[in-house]
Amino acid sequence: MKQVTLHQLKVFEAVARHNSFTRAAEELFLTQPTVSMQVKQLTRAVGVSLFDQVGKRLYLTQAGEELVKTCRAIFENLEKFEMTVADLQGLKQGRLRVAVITTAKYFIPRLLGPFCRRYPGIDVSLQVTNHEHIIGRLNDNADDLYVMSQLPDYLDITYEAILENPLVVIAPADHPLANETNIPLERLGDEPFIMREPGSGTRKAVQELFDARDITLKVQLDLGSNEAIKQAIAGGLGISVLSRHTLALEGVCNQLTILDVEEFPIERYWYAVYPNGKQLSIVARTFLDYLLTEGKDFAQKTAPRRTSAQIPSNGTPPPSDANSEDQGHPVDHPPAS
Ligand code: PGA
Repeated sequence: MKQVTLHQLKVFEAVARHNSFTRAAEELFLTQPTVSMQVKQLTRAVGVSLFDQVGKRLYLTQAGEELVKTCRAIFENLEKFEMTVADLQGLKQGRLRVAVITTAKYFIPRLLGPFCRRYPGIDVSLQVTNHEHIIGRLNDNADDLYVMSQLPDYLDITYEAILENPLVVIAPADHPLANETNIPLERLGDEPFIMREPGSGTRKAVQELFDARDITLKVQLDLGSNEAIKQAIAGGLGISVLSRHTLALEGVCNQLTILDVEEFPIERYWYAVYPNGKQLSIVARTFLDYLLTEGKDFAQKTAPRRTSAQIPSNGTPPPSDANSEDQGHPVDHPPAS
């Protein structure tokens, strides 16, 4: 292994990630014969084959899989070292990889704006994806930080709450229940209901509430997008329960309203998550600290209901008392602007 170079490891990791010599060559601006040669030399140095080729497809061997993990750990440590050096020079510099669940796109990009202005040396890569993919990425240690509401109960993680995530009942502005207060939960069972897709954290929370009260919803439609659901509500297809954050920019349209239903809003939290034991890079720690201070300020500005001391992290279960300030407001007074 003594002859192995960092360059060979980078080339190998790119081939493994793309499962293709051609795409790795494109990414690295190399020719394909150069990429093949580097992998061949690396294979010779390791002494066992790293890929099996079956037809046109490449498969990592067990040794190949282990080497991919080793490469990623080496690159991560080198990146951290670079950040440490930059930090010693008084700079916050490096790459920040954040992956967030779909609904968090309503506030994370806004929080990133001031963060990037404050730390122009930090390059941010933001992935917005569904629960299953987030969990996959978390398992693969693909990012620095994750933001989600529905925490996986089977992974060893560290989490800190950064913001409240109240779920509210959204209806068309001219809905007959729009001006009623304290609408009984059962009443929603009569309404055509639009549900988020299976796997969504929002859907799980809604189902838990209605199952606990033995109420069956008339689900007309499953949609995998908050925006599509809002359009469907405005188009008169039914009502739904979504995060209040999904209404962040709705102020001017005034086509949707939040119904004042008993037991709503459903209280949830947005959590910043990372694998337990992971050493956060300086840049990731800076972003987490920023979320825990400015994120909470943002929460207080947009929904000033709790003190930050009540917001939970590992070991502190989220408080469960409902509040009524989210209820019965037309959406032309948005929660965030
Ligand atoms: P979503 O909600 O999956 O419904 O987008 C976020 C979450 O619960 O983690």
